[in-house]
Amino acid sequence: MARILGVGNATLDIINTLANYPAEDSEQRAESQRICRGGNTANTLVVLSQLGHQCSWAGTLADEPDAKRICADFDHYGIDYSPVYEVEHGKVPTSYVISNQRNGSRTIVHVRDLPEYPAARFYELDLNDYDWIHFEGRNVLEVRQMLEHVATLYPNVFISLEVEKQREGIAQLFNYPDVLIFSRHYVNEANYFEATPFLADMRKLYQANHLVCAWGDRGAYAVDEEGNSIHSPAHPVSSVIETLGAGDTFNAALINAFLQEEALDAALYQACELAAKKCGIEGFNLEV
Ligand code: FRU
Repeated sequence: MARILGVGNATLDIINTLANYPAEDSEQRAESQRICRGGNTANTLVVLSQLGHQCSWAGTLADEPDAKRICADFDHYGIDYSPVYEVEHGKVPTSYVISNQRNGSRTIVHVRDLPEYPAARFYELDLNDYDWIHFEGRNVLEVRQMLEHVATLYPNVFISLEVEKQREGIAQLFNYPDVLIFSRHYVNEANYFEATPFLADMRKLYQANHLVCAWGDRGAYAVDEEGNSIHSPAHPVSSVIETLGAGDTFNAALINAFLQEEALDAALYQACELAAKKCGIEGFNLEV
């Protein structure tokens, strides 16, 4: 069991499941609706807690009723949210999701008006409490300050960073983490069509022990410290129910494998396996 801190988003997800993706300007009736807690980091922590780790969440919440739903779910999974940064006004980040029953695709409209988690709040935390800190690659300036803080004062704490979207100056975050996890979307935005050449170029520039990229139904790619490329195919899913949060589940399984000191190829395999399992169910009760 490790002690893990996740710094990033928790959201309210309003998930409408539709038989098919709707046409523009049409009216559709949903097959069902679920309202639940989401957010990349929060999802990753919910999976890590089921894998037996002691998890804490650092993110922003507003003082409003929907924040209570988020906290109730954290309570359910035994996730500590005492590092929270709470603001008086505003609304928790909310995602309006269309989950397409036909193929499991998820289309997200995201609404956000809360400030990002500030470095000043992060400095108040006693990081001796943690073995691993996972960050979302957002609010670049402040995340860089937090990464620098960890790297300088807590050099024994492992760091992972999820790089999902291209944001101004984001590459300045890449020198700190032990594990860098790039999304397919980010790789494509960087004008690469395949993960392997992208990761090979990243390897020349950054020293992270592991550079990883999840690639949906083509599995995942990685490059190790010596520059060797690794690929793990996607695991079969007999019936795709919901892909929302599959990437966050992949990240959790990857972190878990590294904490168990698994080799990179085994870690990649396990991450693909758990991500596939998530695609076969609704939500995150993975029964691991
Ligand atoms: C899934 C997810 C949702 C959330 C959205 C935020 O990866 O974290 O739970 O609403 O992405 O971008």
